[in-house]
Amino acid sequence: MSQSNLIRALPKAELHVHIEGTFEPELMFEIAQRNKVNIPYKSVEEVKAAYDFYNLQSFLDIYYAGANALLFEQDFYDLTWAYFKKCKEDHVVHTEIFFDPQTHTARGVHFETIIQGIVRACDDAQAQLEISSELIMCFLRHLSEEEAFKTLEQALPFQSHIIGVGLDSSELGHPPSKFARVFAQAREAGFLIVAHAGEEGPAEYVWEALDQLHVNRIDHGVRSEEDPELMARLIRDRMPLTVCPLSNLKLRVIDEMESHNIKRLLEKGLCVTVNSDDPAYFGGYMNDNFEAITQALDLNETDLKQLAINSFEASFLPLATKQHWIEHIQRIS
Ligand code: HPA
Ligand code: ZN
Repeated sequence: MSQSNLIRALPKAELHVHIEGTFEPELMFEIAQRNKVNIPYKSVEEVKAAYDFYNLQSFLDIYYAGANALLFEQDFYDLTWAYFKKCKEDHVVHTEIFFDPQTHTARGVHFETIIQGIVRACDDAQAQLEISSELIMCFLRHLSEEEAFKTLEQALPFQSHIIGVGLDSSELGHPPSKFARVFAQAREAGFLIVAHAGEEGPAEYVWEALDQLHVNRIDHGVRSEEDPELMARLIRDRMPLTVCPLSNLKLRVIDEMESHNIKRLLEKGLCVTVNSDDPAYFGGYMNDNFEAITQALDLNETDLKQLAINSFEASFLPLATKQHWIEHIQRIS
């Protein structure tokens, strides 16, 4: 089987995708129009032309502006449903979706509106597309600890729909330690824990995510390679890194895909996974990410299968379900 056919044939779990980052320009226009919200672009082409980023912040400014169109339960449903259809095309059979409530509650949208729209799409995806999902609520790290505590409080009535909490937005200057007390409370309440660390930030932020937030996974983490002791720790604990190749390229974490370290990390024994992060902004969904690294880094069948296996190993699925998918992948020839 060719690499491209194998990529398509592999069942995959996506563990790092921001639902607001799946907002395609066409849907953005449609929803902005029906909600009578002004967005600073005249056409879909103009939106796409604005997607030329030089670092994380230059992307985030545009990403938060786009999210302004989302107001009603149906908007969150439409956004999430559109993403599930992409999952189906790419044979993503399970996804753990980030959402950023603070991006919306700051504009007067109720927490309940956001979660109900997303959850209804998740239920429909299970019933109609046979795609399972979980939700992970992220705190915006450029906001205060107090704001994060308030958001955690708002989430408690909906805890049955939210498997974990995470940390995203502007990394530099906002280390994980800023939120140690919020994450302690979230853990106490029974949430699993993830955090973006080591994307633009240093290896030190990955140490903080491990030792102060007690994460179950690291999101990105590609800068961990700069610290051999950290690498040894990640390997020893088989701590997953949810890597996002096209994101790293678009946000200039790397200069060219050929210099991405995902293959090296895989060879060193880290549990790395492939993910799309903000696919509407970064030029592709799950299989596009697999294709890009396969071509640039010359991945073989064993590498591709291991990456798909890792995605289930690192997921928050029940053990028996993980084993089912892993055995399924091992049988593909
Ligand atoms: N990093 C941090 N925050 C984010 C990202 C990211 O890649 N995508 C959406 N929010
Ligand atoms: Zn991310």
